[in-house]
Amino acid sequence: MARLGGVEQTRTLTPRTAVIWAVLRAELDRRAGERLSVLDVGGGTGGFAVPLAEAGHRVTVVDASPDALAALTRRAAEAGVADRVRATQGDADALTGLVEPASVDLVLCHSVLEVVDAPEPVITALAGALRPGGAASVLVAARAAAVLGRAINGQLDAAAALATDPHGTAGGRDTLRRRYDAEGATALLTAAGLAVEEIHGVRVLADLLPAAVADGQPAALLELERALAAKPPYRDLAAQLHLFARRPA
Ligand SMILES: C[S@@+](CC[C@H](N)C(=O)[O-])C[C@H]1O[C@@H](n2cnc3c(N)ncnc32)[C@H](O)[C@@H]1O
Repeated sequence: MARLGGVEQTRTLTPRTAVIWAVLRAELDRRAGERLSVLDVGGGTGGFAVPLAEAGHRVTVVDASPDALAALTRRAAEAGVADRVRATQGDADALTGLVEPASVDLVLCHSVLEVVDAPEPVITALAGALRPGGAASVLVAARAAAVLGRAINGQLDAAAALATDPHGTAGGRDTLRRRYDAEGATALLTAAGLAVEEIHGVRVLADLLPAAVADGQPAALLELERALAAKPPYRDLAAQLHLFARRPA
């Protein structure tokens, strides 16, 4: 079995993943030596699930897409961790019927709340799946970065719509159903009984830089992303917000 908690040794860290892995790593270190039960809601092809399984944890991925789950299953087999990864097709809205209540140590819900029909029942269900003291890693699309991004691209009408729409969308052609700021995302998790412990920005700068800079100086960019991730106002301009929360013990 891989050393429990040694997840980052198997990954190439990028601005999309480095800050999240740093937060998860701290939780895995806190529980070093334990084989955790992990639930990845909308876990897709297993970008987080497989490394967690490689680190020795048992991971259940619930995802609506059979194609994503097939890719996950292949990836887990190639990594030699098929026995620790369970792929379950299902709807995040119906988690309660798929996962035993209070049975999970760590829940991941990354880039899902912005696409589901309604985020509240998803968060309530994942909070209910956690054991008391268990943790939730939630990644959501951020509104401010989307407003700036549209404006910089000359889409001023879309930027204005995004800034004022109650759900942070740009209207009918938007691919996402909602976007968050730190306050709104915190309120969502708090209403489900979770205590938010940390908020980080993910991709504070990465999406704003010319490709030549991002590709030419990857280590410097990663370092800067790490340095800015927890600090408002930079945090709040990131493309995504990562919230780390806990079900009170
Ligand atoms: C943007 S991908 C994110 C994948 C992964 N969490 C990650 O961060 O790389 C969104 C995933 O959520 C899944 N998904 C979308 N709506 C869902 C729902 N209602 N229930 C379960 N999974 C859903 C999609 O199939 C897809 O795999």
